[in-house]
Amino acid sequence: MTQAKAKIPVNIYKPKDPYIGKCIENYPLVAEGGSGIVQHLTFDISGGDLHYLEGQSIGIIPPGTDENGKPHKLRLYSIASTRHGDKLDDGTVSLCVRQLEYKHPETGEPVYGVCSTHLCYLEVGADVAITGPVGKEMLLPEDEDATVIMLATGTGIAPFRSFLWRMFKEQHEDYKFKGLAWLIFGVPYSANFLYKDDLEKMQADYPENFRLTSAISREQQNKDGGKMYIQHRVAEHAKELWNMLQQPKTHLYMCGLKGMESGIEEGLAPFAKKQGVEWSDFVKSMKKDHRWHVEVY
Ligand code: FAD
Ligand code: A2P
Repeated sequence: MTQAKAKIPVNIYKPKDPYIGKCIENYPLVAEGGSGIVQHLTFDISGGDLHYLEGQSIGIIPPGTDENGKPHKLRLYSIASTRHGDKLDDGTVSLCVRQLEYKHPETGEPVYGVCSTHLCYLEVGADVAITGPVGKEMLLPEDEDATVIMLATGTGIAPFRSFLWRMFKEQHEDYKFKGLAWLIFGVPYSANFLYKDDLEKMQADYPENFRLTSAISREQQNKDGGKMYIQHRVAEHAKELWNMLQQPKTHLYMCGLKGMESGIEEGLAPFAKKQGVEWSDFVKSMKKDHRWHVEVY
């Protein structure tokens, strides 16, 4: 079962009247030699009614106007903290944000995303306009004995940070996880392994309950000599994953790059076929059971 519907907070703050929080933390998550800028941000939300559940997102409205002179539209970001927040006082919300950077298709000049740049360079003490929370797709099951398989690329780790903090780090009296969590995490370089120390410590502290598998695309190779992506790890562990997915207490979550969903099919579908199961039927039945959770962007 997913969280009871009545308890899911949604759209407490709307774009016309956002909550104005304050940035209390903004630190880099990419180590020396890594690619791009990814920041962990925490906002003080203690002054209003904003509250949320693990797996939800908030909207951020960047200051200023767009090229048509209209106020910027909100951008969604997955919440990276548990409902109790990084300070454990129910008064903060945290995000994991990558600065969007790409080359202009015609001029080749670097272009930086409006909102992600605003956030990545936000100063401690600065105001931030927040909407939401939104999202019912990625909620953590209430069952403390669940098997929770998480597939993440890059900042797709955000909701899983909130899950794993709730399961292992926070140890709040309202939730005592006894099941199995398995994170398969894809990053370009070891230096991009977001929250690495915390994740490794959890694995060392809870070896029976937490598995951590990495796919470091630009440092490791798959069996065909190409980049190591999470779907190749999924393929390596296909039998075990497949068996887990047959159990009603197992949930599969995916978060990150749009391309990853078809990648997972690539990794698991051949195995399913060997068992005589059509992939699309399998996904359909998982979705029907609310055990297949996808958030890609
Ligand atoms: P913008 O200034 O809005 O620029 C984006 C636009 O640039 C695109 O619409 C496209 O037109 C153009 N563009 C982008 N790439 C290229 C390219 N390669 N070539 C040409 N044009 C291009 N992001 C995170 O960092 N962390 C999260 O946890 C997170 N969670 C999300 C959760 C959800 C549910 C969704 C929908 C998105 C999430 N995002 C997350 C993405 C986030 O919402 C923004 O889309 C992202 O930060 C970029 O916004 P921006 O304002 O910086 O870029
Ligand atoms: P790469 O960029 O080497 O092709 P980040 O957001 O920090 O860049 O990390 C995203 C990770 O996901 C990178 O390792 C990236 O590899 C990888 N990746 C890119 N495309 C896909 C895809 N279609 N399926 C799975 N992983 C992908």
